[in-house]
Amino acid sequence: MIKKVAWVVTGAGHFLRECIDVIAEYKSDINLFVSRAGLEVIKVYGLYDHLLKESIDIVNDQSASSASCGAFAAGRYSVLVIAPATSNTVAKCALGIADSLPTNLFAQAGKSKVPIVVLPSDVSCEIESVTPSGKRIMVYPRPIDMRNVDMLKKFPGVTVVDDVEKLRSSLEIYIL
Ligand SMILES: Cc1cc2nc3c(=O)[nH]c(=O)nc-3n(C[C@H](O)[C@H](O)[C@H](O)COP(=O)(O)O)c2cc1C
Repeated sequence: MIKKVAWVVTGAGHFLRECIDVIAEYKSDINLFVSRAGLEVIKVYGLYDHLLKESIDIVNDQSASSASCGAFAAGRYSVLVIAPATSNTVAKCALGIADSLPTNLFAQAGKSKVPIVVLPSDVSCEIESVTPSGKRIMVYPRPIDMRNVDMLKKFPGVTVVDDVEKLRSSLEIYIL
């Protein structure tokens, strides 16, 4: 069985465009998941049409239990990528909460010993980001957000990267 990459986009605008570019590049190797907020934010940034144009399907899993996570135990995925990962998803993952599609994917990948790569939106305590209208803004993640990212770095099997190039390098190990 050829294993695929499970990639989940959460509701973060920061790094979103760059992540969609990587997804488009490796689309035949990726099963794409989105959180509910992820789908909204993709649309707000005008990137939904880009996914359609690239014929990138989003896995439709609106079940309360995130039924598609069973594929990790079945050995169908070589890696889980969460990119970009919101401070919300990072916080829940760090605390072991699994109540949304991204957090269930994280928990089930971990329990099946499938490696996980995370690109948090909050990579430092001061970030320059771009709004949906293209305006550059400063964002200042709080100490709690940075602490949660640090907690995630200590999880076995989890690699936390801080830019898209490092994400790409981590991903290439799993793409044949
Ligand atoms: C346009 C837009 C951009 C956003 N960008 C970010 C972001 O870069 N980082 C972040 O942590 N939250 C961001 N949010 C807030 C998240 O979408 C929100 O916390 C959401 O509840 C996260 O849900 P999820 O983690 O399940 O995807 C953004 C919201 C909007 C509307």
